[in-house]
Amino acid sequence: MHEQTLSVPATGGGVKGTVRVPGDKSVSHRALVLAALAPGRSTIEGLSRGEDPTHTRGALAHFGVEFLDEADGTVTVHGGLRHEPVDVLDCGNAGTGIRLLAGVCAGFDGLSVLTGDRYLRRRPMDRVADPLRRMGARVDARAGGSLAPLVIRGGGLNGLTYHSPTASAQVKSCVLLAGLAASGPTTVVEPHPTRRHTEEMLTAAGARVQVEGTSVTVHPGPVAPMAHTVPGDPSQSAFWAVAAALAGEVELPGLYLGYGRSDYLNVLRRMGATVQVEESTGTVRVSAARLRAVQIGGEEVPGIVDEIPVLAVAAAGAQGTTVISGAHELRVKESDRVASTVAMLRAFGVETEERPDGMVVHGREEFSPAAVDSAGDHRIAMAAAVAAVARTSGLSTITGWGSVATSYPGFVEDLRTVSGAAASVGA
Ligand code: S3P
Repeated sequence: MHEQTLSVPATGGGVKGTVRVPGDKSVSHRALVLAALAPGRSTIEGLSRGEDPTHTRGALAHFGVEFLDEADGTVTVHGGLRHEPVDVLDCGNAGTGIRLLAGVCAGFDGLSVLTGDRYLRRRPMDRVADPLRRMGARVDARAGGSLAPLVIRGGGLNGLTYHSPTASAQVKSCVLLAGLAASGPTTVVEPHPTRRHTEEMLTAAGARVQVEGTSVTVHPGPVAPMAHTVPGDPSQSAFWAVAAALAGEVELPGLYLGYGRSDYLNVLRRMGATVQVEESTGTVRVSAARLRAVQIGGEEVPGIVDEIPVLAVAAAGAQGTTVISGAHELRVKESDRVASTVAMLRAFGVETEERPDGMVVHGREEFSPAAVDSAGDHRIAMAAAVAAVARTSGLSTITGWGSVATSYPGFVEDLRTVSGAAASVGA
């Protein structure tokens, strides 16, 4: 199913309109996990219906957690992990899912097996297995303990001060979630600050959390049931924002605009796009301008890590040469996103050089219609769709389109609405 192809005829008109993007994927995973950990009734409003969080929900159901879909779209959760998982936890394509769940499994006195699709089984898990082992969990895995499937025998954890070598919110979150079940406080120190959803949501659920600079400490204890509201996903809004920056204008209401998630707007502003933000409603408005090349890299990367493929499309339509550096983490995402972004841009006729930690993009006025392979990666597929509607004058095709269902099942509908393109999905 992930092999589907999207055909996008050019309209020449760019995009115009309002898009309400799906519930934030990062927040959705965490809302499901925290509601599952909290003994009692929680509710989740605005949950992402992407396959990634749906896998997390399915995995947590194996612990005896009950999830009920209400008629108004809210999900009611009867939380409390009741028993060790009755089956393998299939995390699908979701790196966030498997790494957060690994923390939960390490804290739970029982045996868990976690796996995922062929893309997830290629991604490094030693970054979570190592700290969990240091906390006392027994973690085994393929490839010398570093690739899923992961086998975790949890329980009896000690607290830990962990200096993470990688700036990763998934690693931080995994260790903090395990820390809830440790015998003493657990601290994660990050090399660069990353998104703060876990600390924010743990605090809201009554956990004792202290943040000092790049260090976060959690004290062991239960979390309380609560009513979670999932805001719109800024990473999904970035596709429409870039499309508008290249050609058109969009309004994007209801977004999460907290720390580490909206930095891509600063990059678009540097490029010269017109960007307005209304904090009170989480609304972002972007309109086209003559974009210019910029330097992207350094400490900025963790805050735009998911937006780089689509920002590279903006760079491709900008005047001049954009250099993206310090982005080695992109090599271990759903695909090798340095290689897959470079290949995507080249398919559109954009001269692009690959570097170990990024790329050099030579901007041009118009892109050639392209046949793009998404490499099974939802963000490459959606970034290519943006390039196709914004700057081509012919028919483009994107194979591996089915991957988009992991995060944004309604993307094609929204694409048709704002671009007027008769985009169609085929086998
Ligand atoms: C996420 C953290 C980031 C990001 C991913 C979601 C999260 O991954 O790329 O899409 O929800 O914590 P890393 O922690 O690997 O940087």
